[in-house]
Amino acid sequence: MILLLLACATPAPSVVAETTPPPRRATARECATLPDVTWDAWGDGFFRTYCTACHSSANTAARSGAPEGIDFDSEGAVRAHATDVRRVVLENGTMPVGGGVYPEDLVLLEVFLACGLKD
Ligand code: HEC
Repeated sequence: MILLLLACATPAPSVVAETTPPPRRATARECATLPDVTWDAWGDGFFRTYCTACHSSANTAARSGAPEGIDFDSEGAVRAHATDVRRVVLENGTMPVGGGVYPEDLVLLEVFLACGLKD
């Protein structure tokens, strides 16, 4: 599984909690062997499906407690919080509230953060 392969390269959770490294970026060579996961083709839909009901800059009234300024309605906004996205979704599984992310979407999120997310 891609997810497990990439996960092996990340530090243990206790270390992550102390140092919070940036999302691991895969090399071009590694990315060439992985699905082509871009914002337009996949990321936009993923964050709309699982996150922007609460985390959207267009949503100031009914955020269900999602902190102000933590929004995922653009690639730049996701990039600004990429380390947190990795931690809460892939490492801790605390987001989205209530869970329910399809396993294949977790794999693709890992690939998106490692390869698809533009700098
Ligand atoms: C039903 C509403 C809801 C949805 C959907 C949701 N969140 Fe959240 N999110 C919250 C609330 C409430 C908090 C503040 C409480 C907390 O941190 O647990 C929060 C906090 C966060 C934080 C900051 C907390 C931290 O530890 O850094 C991040 C990052 C985050 N969410 C990411 C996401 C991502 C990514 C998704 C989609 C995969 C998502 N959330 C989906 C409601 C939501």
